[in-house]
Amino acid sequence: AIPLKELFKDHFPIGAAITPQHADLGTNHGEALVKHFSSVTAENVMKPDALQREKGVFTWDGADRIVQFAKSNNMKVRGHTLTWHSQSPDWMFYDQNGALLSKEVALDQLEEHITTVVSRYKGDVYAWDVVNEAMFDWDPNGEIIYREDSPWYKIFGPSYIDSAFVFARRADPDAKLFYNDYNSIFSWKRNKIYNLVKRLKDNNIPIDGVGLQGHWFVGTSEEEIRTTLDLFRGLGVEIQITELDIPVYMSNDEPGSTVYTETFSTRQKQAYKMLFQIFLDYKDIITGVTFWGIGDDATWLDKPGRKAFPFLLDENLQPKPAYFEVQKLLN
Ligand code: G3I
Repeated sequence: AIPLKELFKDHFPIGAAITPQHADLGTNHGEALVKHFSSVTAENVMKPDALQREKGVFTWDGADRIVQFAKSNNMKVRGHTLTWHSQSPDWMFYDQNGALLSKEVALDQLEEHITTVVSRYKGDVYAWDVVNEAMFDWDPNGEIIYREDSPWYKIFGPSYIDSAFVFARRADPDAKLFYNDYNSIFSWKRNKIYNLVKRLKDNNIPIDGVGLQGHWFVGTSEEEIRTTLDLFRGLGVEIQITELDIPVYMSNDEPGSTVYTETFSTRQKQAYKMLFQIFLDYKDIITGVTFWGIGDDATWLDKPGRKAFPFLLDENLQPKPAYFEVQKLLN
C-alpha cells in the first residue's frame, strides 16, 4: 500500500485523532502515525477539562507530548477544542453554589482560557476548533437554532461564539479558526450552521472554516454531503472533515457484531470510495481530512458486543480492502 499521506500529498493533509500514548515512535501506533498521517489531533487532552480542570491550573503534559511528536515528525496539529458545552470544568460556568456565573466573570474566564491555550501553541497548532457543537441537533423544523442546554448559551445566548473567535484570532493571528459540528449534512442543521457563519462573517468575526465532523454511516447519502459542500462553498470558507469514522452499520439500529464480515467489508469499500471521491472533487475548498482514530483497535464507537471497525486501517493497523479502494482513486 502507498501511505495515505503520500496518496493525498498534493491535495490535503490526512490526520488522525490520538492519545498522548500514541505519540511515541517505539509503539505500533506511533509507527503507523508517521507512516500514514501528516496531521494529528488530540482526541481528548486539549479539551477544556483536560487543560484547565482547576481554575488557573493548567496541565500541559499530554498536549505538549502530542505537539512535540508532531513537530519532530513533520506533522501538522489541529487543535480541538476551545469552547464546548461538554468536557469543560464546572467552574467555567457555575459558582460554588451551583448558580450560573455572570456574563462578565464567564467572559473573562473564556478569554483567559483561549488566550493561554492558543498562545502556548502559537505557530504549532495550525487550525483550531474554536467552537464545537453549538447548534441544536434534532429539529427537523429548524425552529430551535442553538443548543439551549449548553451552559455557554444559558449565560450568554449566542454571543459567546463571536467572543471565542475574537479571542482566538488575537492570540494567534495565523491560526485557521473553525466552527465544528456533527450531523451537519442534514438540511435543518446545515442551514443553521450556514446562517451562523454568514452572521459571523457579516459582522467581521474572524472565522476561516467549517469543520464537518464526519461521524457518518456506510449508508450516508452522497447527495446530502455534496449539497452541504455546495452550500458552504458560497460562504467563502474552508471546509475540513475533522472526525471521520464510518462504522460498518447502516444505522445505529442494526444489531451488533464483533466479527468483520464480508458484507461489512463490501459496504465499507463503497462508502469510503464514495467519500474520498467527493473530497477530491471538492479539494479546492477541503483543506484537511482527519480520522477520529488511527485503526480499528480503538474507537469511541465500540461497545461490548458491537465493534464498529470504522477506519481504513484494521486492528493491527494494516490497510483494509477499503484502503485499496481509496488508493485506486488516485492512480
Ligand atoms: O479521563 C477519564 C479517566 O480519568 C477515567 O479513568 C476514564 C474511565 O472511563 O474516563 C476518562 O474520561 C473519558 C475520556 O473520553 C477520556 O478517555 C470519558 O469517560 C469519555 O466520555 C471520553 O469520551 C470522549 C468523548 O468525546 C467525550 O464527549 C471520546 O474519547 C472522544 O472520542 C469524543 O470525541 C468527540 C469529539 O470531541 C467531539 N465530537 C464528537 C466526538 C465523539 O463523541
